[in-house]
Amino acid sequence: MANYPLKRLRRLRYNPILRDMIGETTLTVNDFIYPLFAVPGEKVKNPIKSMPGVFQLSIDMLVEECKEVASLGIPAVILFGIPEHKDEVGSDAYSPNGIIQRAIRAIKAEVKNLLVITDVCLCEYTSHGHCGMLNGEEILNDETVSLLAKEAVSHAEAGADMIAPSDMMDGRVIAIRKALDYKGFTKIPIMSYAAKYASGYYGPFRDAAESTPAFGDRRSHQMDIRNGNEAIREVESDIEEGADIVMVKPAGAYLDIIYRVKQQFGMPTAAYQVSGEYSMIKAAAQNDWIDGERVMIESLTAIKRAGADMILTYFAKEAAKFLNKK
Ligand code: PBG
Ligand code: ZN
Repeated sequence: MANYPLKRLRRLRYNPILRDMIGETTLTVNDFIYPLFAVPGEKVKNPIKSMPGVFQLSIDMLVEECKEVASLGIPAVILFGIPEHKDEVGSDAYSPNGIIQRAIRAIKAEVKNLLVITDVCLCEYTSHGHCGMLNGEEILNDETVSLLAKEAVSHAEAGADMIAPSDMMDGRVIAIRKALDYKGFTKIPIMSYAAKYASGYYGPFRDAAESTPAFGDRRSHQMDIRNGNEAIREVESDIEEGADIVMVKPAGAYLDIIYRVKQQFGMPTAAYQVSGEYSMIKAAAQNDWIDGERVMIESLTAIKRAGADMILTYFAKEAAKFLNKK
């Protein structure tokens, strides 16, 4: 700052109007994708203890929720399903009458102006809670990929607008792309969870999706938290395989990865502010230790500033209400 007192960076900070004019990052409702959990039954609205304000919803309630989401101007939801019956190979995930397939059809029949994205993985549907088919304790890659492709096609057949594979098996994106194309779904984009870390931040989600693995963990397929260069290789291979949007997950602790991915590839880039990120902010706010609304906006703005074009977040509705009243 050799030029002080001529140069004063505070000059642009005194007037709130001017502050808004020079703001480099603009968070908008259009940035959000809202995750939703579908469960069997009717009139079900189960609170998830570790995620205040988030519920498991039966399909009738889910449809109402989607109407509200659309009316707030949120462009998209991502659906997770908790089936009635789980088995070794996650059959409900690719059944034409599975929980997600029914949810998609119901939403598509009743809600306009809402993009319906589906999470493609097996962990919510397998009795052992793992993301794929097992041989003993090993998660089989190629056999799992075939099931994921089947799952993706069945979501598309039910009317999904976009497919989001979250499994982290090698080769799933190209397998899903080929399967979709073969069935005529050439216009359905893939948003791949491209750099997904084996993260402790997923804890509350596993309550919501009832998908805690019965033994072991997800470290044989999700990324090691220590690695950054490897994220670039993961993202690169998903792009080569045909991913249309690439995702980094979690978001807040991986802003460097979001930044690098956006800089390096210039692809439409999504970031998932995951359950633990949400719950930590909620818990601290409930204790009056932080201003929850302020930290919500700050966390989302940081993710956008790092380079994310869209943010999957449990705050979507709350943040939309905040932004809409501004
Ligand atoms: C399923 C999946 C998970 C999340 C999204 N898709 C859980 C996991 O990998 O264990 C986590 C989302 C969150 O924590 O909010 N594979
Ligand atoms: Zn999984």
